[in-house]
Amino acid sequence: MTMAIEAGAGLRLLAVESSCDETAVAVVEDGRRILASVVASQTVLHARTGGIVPEVAARAHLRWMLPVLDEAIARAGLHDAGGVDAIAVTFGPGLAGSLLVGLTMAKTLAFLHDRPLVAVNHLEGHIYAGWLLDPGQEAEAPDFPAVALVVSGGHTFLVEMRDHLSYRLLGQTVDDAAGEAFDKVGRLLGLPYPGGPAIQRAAEGAGSRGRRLPRAWLGDSLDFSFSGLKTAVRRMVVAEVGGTADDGALVPDALAAEIAAGFQDSVVDVLATKTALAAERCGARTIVLGGGVAANGPLRAAMGDRAAALGARLVVPRPDLCTDNGAMIGAAGYRRFLAGERAGLDLDARSSLKLAKPA
Ligand code: KG4
Ligand code: ZN
Repeated sequence: MTMAIEAGAGLRLLAVESSCDETAVAVVEDGRRILASVVASQTVLHARTGGIVPEVAARAHLRWMLPVLDEAIARAGLHDAGGVDAIAVTFGPGLAGSLLVGLTMAKTLAFLHDRPLVAVNHLEGHIYAGWLLDPGQEAEAPDFPAVALVVSGGHTFLVEMRDHLSYRLLGQTVDDAAGEAFDKVGRLLGLPYPGGPAIQRAAEGAGSRGRRLPRAWLGDSLDFSFSGLKTAVRRMVVAEVGGTADDGALVPDALAAEIAAGFQDSVVDVLATKTALAAERCGARTIVLGGGVAANGPLRAAMGDRAAALGARLVVPRPDLCTDNGAMIGAAGYRRFLAGERAGLDLDARSSLKLAKPA
């Protein structure tokens, strides 16, 4: 069924996200204004195991979904979920058991309140986080053509957007995702989970003493590779402290800081250089960054410089909207809703859902 709906009509979506280790519900107006965004993070839970155990994550979503929903409804000033125009939900990619908790919640609300259900790709959510504003905040919406870099725990890719919901894949990682590299290197250095924020903090203590680590340029392609860098870190740790580097607790703080700084420099250099190259090749007016690694301070700063040199506008969500949240699903869901997309109550989880196929 397709319905013509005008943009900017005060449309409210309630959005549910549970693809990984954040239980999140948000209420978003017109795909941009955040009326409420509540995130319950399981980071503390997964710190014990140094990574996510899928069944533990799914059970935590079950535990937190209803309290998070209630809090989002209250903060948005709604009586119940019937106070919105549609329900958006992440249906992939992600952990199947985790996705199913959010899907069941969203379908129940759609059925109970007789509201349309909109299926959202989590990766599209990370891109549309760039459209979000707090109430009262004003900013032009990102302009096309745009180039978007998505850097999360499970994905790293560059796409060109010439219009809403239209993606041409320019490049992607051939091995580890950038966030995965941060997490694995964090473990090698004995830093707490998740590795990204811990490495950024550790690197701040290194000053200019960062170790030089390799960059995988892969010729002039826009693909990425981070597994060689991880191996280089492992070798450096073994050479300096011995052992197998599997017990990162043995790495002294000063050395961890120096390696963290060198690793971060390498990742930021490659991400920023390739994103700028993509923007130049596409004649992009806007560069959008999204995904957890886009919360990284040095990456945000480096991208700002590159965008300025190109005369392009850089759009990066504030750090808590780079990591997983419900508001980004409301932003992307709004675009899908405007396009007339409606999901049935038989909507299923798609663990390996893609955003764009190679050109
Ligand atoms: O987007 P996200 O919250 O979840 C996924 O969809 O994967 O991304 C999580 C990833 C983790 O790998 C985490 O280490 C990384 O984002 N991350 C960071 C920072 N904050 C989170 N990486 C580098 N610097 C940060 N400040
Ligand atoms: Zn994510």
